Amino acid sequence: MLQKNLADLLLAWYKENGRDLPWRYKGGAHPNPYVVLVSEFMLQQTTVTTVIPYFHRFMERFPTVYDLAKATDEEVYQLWQGLGYYTRARSLHASAKMIVDDFNGIFPHMREDVLKLKGIGTYTVASFLALAFNQPETVIDGNVMRIMARLYHLTRPLDEIKDDIRKKAMALTSHKEPADYASAIMDLGATICTPKKPLCMVCPWQQYCKSKDLPDLEQIPTRKKLAKKEQHGYVYLIYNDKGEVFIRKRTEKGLLFGLYEFP
Ligand code: ADE
Repeated sequence: MLQKNLADLLLAWYKENGRDLPWRYKGGAHPNPYVVLVSEFMLQQTTVTTVIPYFHRFMERFPTVYDLAKATDEEVYQLWQGLGYYTRARSLHASAKMIVDDFNGIFPHMREDVLKLKGIGTYTVASFLALAFNQPETVIDGNVMRIMARLYHLTRPLDEIKDDIRKKAMALTSHKEPADYASAIMDLGATICTPKKPLCMVCPWQQYCKSKDLPDLEQIPTRKKLAKKEQHGYVYLIYNDKGEVFIRKRTEKGLLFGLYEFP
């Protein structure tokens, strides 16, 4: 099976079945890289369903990178409240300021420049360049690793096969339509090649998947079992007889900066 044909099969499937998501543009590079940047930050460690309402509110309040760059930390945190992993909000805000101040408002499209922005690692640089600029970058997250491990029936623990997975995922990536390919493989992992009860019957790669119909399909990829560590912690509350609880705002730079906590 030629790599090209696998990519074409996936792209054809995506054109019919790809999800319509508020930050998504089907048919090439997204015309607005700011939309890609905001959504990719929000989608780090958070599910699509959770992100959708936050994304709408954020874009309504900060429609352009200039609006975000001139916002206060407070305003940005407020819109992020509830989404978790607040360092992302700070990094996104810092990145917007850098794009305005250091790149004259023009979104960088060279890998080394994108990596100068805050909070952008291997995954986000690839997804940003693929989705915003249609560059043949390979996105590799948990979903893609599961798809590759199943497609090639790689049964050894994930940390032993990561390099192999990366090579295989890169070889499959469409150079003709990288933006759509990136979205397509995300959708394949989210809707078809799911951890439990994958829908192989409607998978565009079913004929070529080395794990389809095998009894260990759902167990792939395998992970080394880690001994569970028990964790203990204490929280103290100070309250008065009116039932009011004493809280304070974190002012220290660092984790959860600007949010409220018990002193
Ligand atoms: N996960 C990370 N980036 C995503 C995107 N652009 N669409 C759907 N899921 C994602």
